[in-house]
Amino acid sequence: MNITLLSGSPETIQTGTLVIGVFADGALPPTAQLLDAALGGRLASLVKLGEVGAEAGSTLVLHGPTGVAAERLLIVSLGKTQPLSEKAFRDALAGAGKALASSVATQACVILSDLAPAGRSPEWRLRHAARILADGAYRFDAPGKRRDAPKPPGAGEIGLLIEAPTTEELKTAAREGAAIAEGMALAKDLGNLPPNVCNPGYLAETGQALGKEFGFEVDVLERADLEKLGMWSLLAVGRASYSPCKLVVMHYRGGPAGAQPIVLVGKGVTFDTGGVSLKPAALLDEMKYDMSGAGSVLGTLKTIARLGLPINVIGIVPAVENMPGGNAARPGDVVTSMSGQTIEILNTDAEGRLILCDALTYAERFNPACVVDIATLTGACVVALGSHASGLFANDEPLAAELLKGGVDSGDRAWQLPLWDDYQVQLKSNFADMSNLGGPAAGSVTAACFLARFTKTYKWAHLDVAGTASIGGDAKGSTGRPVPLLSEFLLSRSQAT
Ligand code: BES
Ligand code: MN
Ligand code: ZN
Repeated sequence: MNITLLSGSPETIQTGTLVIGVFADGALPPTAQLLDAALGGRLASLVKLGEVGAEAGSTLVLHGPTGVAAERLLIVSLGKTQPLSEKAFRDALAGAGKALASSVATQACVILSDLAPAGRSPEWRLRHAARILADGAYRFDAPGKRRDAPKPPGAGEIGLLIEAPTTEELKTAAREGAAIAEGMALAKDLGNLPPNVCNPGYLAETGQALGKEFGFEVDVLERADLEKLGMWSLLAVGRASYSPCKLVVMHYRGGPAGAQPIVLVGKGVTFDTGGVSLKPAALLDEMKYDMSGAGSVLGTLKTIARLGLPINVIGIVPAVENMPGGNAARPGDVVTSMSGQTIEILNTDAEGRLILCDALTYAERFNPACVVDIATLTGACVVALGSHASGLFANDEPLAAELLKGGVDSGDRAWQLPLWDDYQVQLKSNFADMSNLGGPAAGSVTAACFLARFTKTYKWAHLDVAGTASIGGDAKGSTGRPVPLLSEFLLSRSQAT
């Protein structure tokens, strides 16, 4: 998608679709009033007639409107309550994005002048508008699916109409938004691909392809390398799969050579059967999304590399498939992790922590400024927070605050849960330094407490995205989260240096 900035009078803009936001009731915003005058009062009368849906994001199309240069007018509801909230802003743009993506018009202009939630800068508005509109155009081209009737291409050219003047800062903001959507699209593609395609080798190839495209170094560690490092915990998870385990390490060096890197670690279980502790059959296909943490790391690296952010970021993806089989790890097995700590595997379905602990130990060698891991780690997190917020845990409060802010600013929110030592007793084992199972209470917290035992030498945060990275039901698919949160976090880090 190509996104540009425009200024001028909306009624004179020649475009396929002109998008205008109006409240479902009450007064028209200033630019809508201008347009209404050109349209001879039609906009105001549509509002009066109740034609504009009460739900922000619902849309209405006027074909061949008289008085304006555009071929059609897409009227988007801003909801009922004024002034405009951030949620209504996002919902309105998402509604517009969806309508534009399936329209026959290949060109559109979105009037942003009226869309200004209180307390947000023009740069914020552009970054978000660009991201949401570009993300609205996302389509997954399923490799095996036959299409009888080709869908319209949608609007690939979108102009954002703002109050003059268009500055470099505003152009940059729009580019940032488009780059975040591009990162989300990669994360979504990886999640949506079937697990017989997106296996550990595929994640490694994706990392290598990114490195090639953007000119950064990528190392793929194979089983023999992982054995040499002593990653017996990670290797225990992947042992029964025909797809060999990989550790993908990506080095994005946008900052000064000596600057400590931010390390992102993403859980890459390309399919989670549970292993010998086999999961029930219902909804098991959705365990292809168990590599979403890895997808978000690859996606975020794509975003920051596209933008050339002046920071150093290392992406680490432990990639495995968790299968049962004659060679599989058993409940009761004791393994030695790379850190030297031993683990009694009481449940082979608590595999995420087993691969992450070794990847987190590996991260130490980079002398990181901080480490953030992203993982579809626990069903308990879905119970606690549902699909609205990712769970956040951290051993450093300023880092937690930064990530929470990245969530609020991007609308891709996280909520902090405790990491108190009080929970550590639940991980006691009679046969090893710890067990990988914390019992039925506070499952997300004990999973994070397990990881905390491997992250003592640096500032660390953990995002449990089990409820946010994908959705089930009719709209089943990857959401691309938490690429927006991570990108916002890295953008502000890059501005701080
Ligand atoms: N990948 C799952 C967590 C998950 C569940 C993600 C639902 C998305 C939706 C993870 O590996 C897992 O199986 N966790 C277990 C841990 C338990 C055995 C301690 C769980 O949550 O039940
Ligand atoms: Mn599992
Ligand atoms: Zn899992």
